[in-house]
Amino acid sequence: MQFNFNEKREAVALLGAGSMGMAIAERVAANRIVLLGDISEKSLKAAAERLQFSGYAVETMIVDGGDQESIRAFARRAAELGPVKHYIHTAGASPNQANPQHIIKLDLVGSAYALDAFGEVMMRDGSGILISSQTGYMLPEPMTNEVELALTTTPAEKLEALPCLQPDVIINSGVAYVVAKRANQLRVRKAAMDWGRRGARINTISPGVVVTPLAYDEFRAAGEGYQKMIESSAMHRVGNPAEIAAAAEFLLSDKASFITGTDLLVDGGTIAAIKTGAYQLTLS
Ligand SMILES: NC(=O)c1ccc[n+]([C@@H]2O[C@H](COP(=O)([O-])OP(=O)(O)OC[C@H]3O[C@@H](n4cnc5c(N)ncnc54)[C@H](O)[C@@H]3O)[C@@H](O)[C@H]2O)c1
Repeated sequence: MQFNFNEKREAVALLGAGSMGMAIAERVAANRIVLLGDISEKSLKAAAERLQFSGYAVETMIVDGGDQESIRAFARRAAELGPVKHYIHTAGASPNQANPQHIIKLDLVGSAYALDAFGEVMMRDGSGILISSQTGYMLPEPMTNEVELALTTTPAEKLEALPCLQPDVIINSGVAYVVAKRANQLRVRKAAMDWGRRGARINTISPGVVVTPLAYDEFRAAGEGYQKMIESSAMHRVGNPAEIAAAAEFLLSDKASFITGTDLLVDGGTIAAIKTGAYQLTLS
């Protein structure tokens, strides 16, 4: 049942209506109108029902997170619904769900399109979160300054043509994912400059292994190595979407009013285990 939803409200836009995205949206949606975007009609329907049954005001839209026009239309619709207070970007595919090209297009280029599109519609004091991954800290070798600068500042439309994103470098889906997630952490710095001109903030969160359908696909494919990585982490366990949402709620709130263009690693200490030698990372 919905009550008194006629007056103009602030809007919250979520692209990628999956587990983490919904956990975050639920924390910031009260008294606002939520625009859910996803490529999957089934996910959208389930997500909208979940919010509606809790009394939230919701609208849904099929959006392809790898397509610039689709993302622009999504941002325009969000702005029509109301002043855009929060943007949450959780659309993504993991290495075991997609080929390298798809991962670069969706997880890297698509998120850059979204940062651009929402950078044009955010309200003053608005804020956003882009979900990256702990894998952004798992590059076999650090990127050169030149490559980092290119991934940070190249116009989104030209990203796919960068030499560092060609098939001789992006040799498989695992590499594509690691590079895409590192690029998210970098890209948010440029976005912070653009969003800052509107008085809005944007950050990334890099989750560790969090139990969601996407993580189950990784579990099924990765097996023992994945299990060992989790056991070796400082917290010796996987995370829950609510633990990511708690961090997101803080970054989206006014308590984080001086935090923008940065990444928060929320991984239960997996990277700590790798950097202290407690776990030996092998990337295939
Ligand atoms: N679950 C983890 O362990 C984990 C860890 C680190 C980072 N992440 C990242 O978190 C984000 C959210 O993942 P999740 O675990 O909540 O998974 P999820 O599968 O629950 O959600 C992902 C959502 O993205 C949607 N999506 C896929 N392709 C899309 C497209 N082209 N356009 C629009 N939407 C699309 C899916 O339909 C799904 O609803 C992803 O970017 C993922 O890479 C996940």
